[in-house]
Amino acid sequence: MAFTLKINGTPHEVDVDGDAPLLWVLRDVLGMTGTKFGCGQALCGACTVHVDGQAVRSCQTTIDSVGDGAVTTIEAIGQVPQGAALQKAWLELEVVQCGYCQSGQIMSAAALLKDTPKPTDDDIDAAMSGNVCRCGTYQRIRAAIKHAAGV
Ligand code: FES
Ligand code: FES
Repeated sequence: MAFTLKINGTPHEVDVDGDAPLLWVLRDVLGMTGTKFGCGQALCGACTVHVDGQAVRSCQTTIDSVGDGAVTTIEAIGQVPQGAALQKAWLELEVVQCGYCQSGQIMSAAALLKDTPKPTDDDIDAAMSGNVCRCGTYQRIRAAIKHAAGV
């Protein structure tokens, strides 16, 4: 079935089943591989993207449910102020180890800062608790979010 997805401000025509996961369409149909596959069960956060500004797990988000929502992925998050600030902070604080989880981490952090520009530790914990990092970069992630937010 044909769908027109709005991704990073550009319409993309795809011919997929309506119950196809957004993650699969991004990666395998459109070749946008910045969004990662981790668990496939909404348990790790590696696949996090935004739909209409809200962080969602794209592995459990069907194309039907996206509808005409505006999808933002890690490829374009640097074009919004929160994303740009986070990417800069990530580099300055050398957050990344293997990197596999990090696009999802930044997408969750960007959604947090959009709604809560000056987050507390509790705000950060609540927003980031679903993003798993096997390398254990949690302390640097927290520090980078604070650095980006200026708190
Ligand atoms: S791959 Fe989607 S939450 Fe893990
Ligand atoms: S940096 Fe390796 S899983 Fe997070």
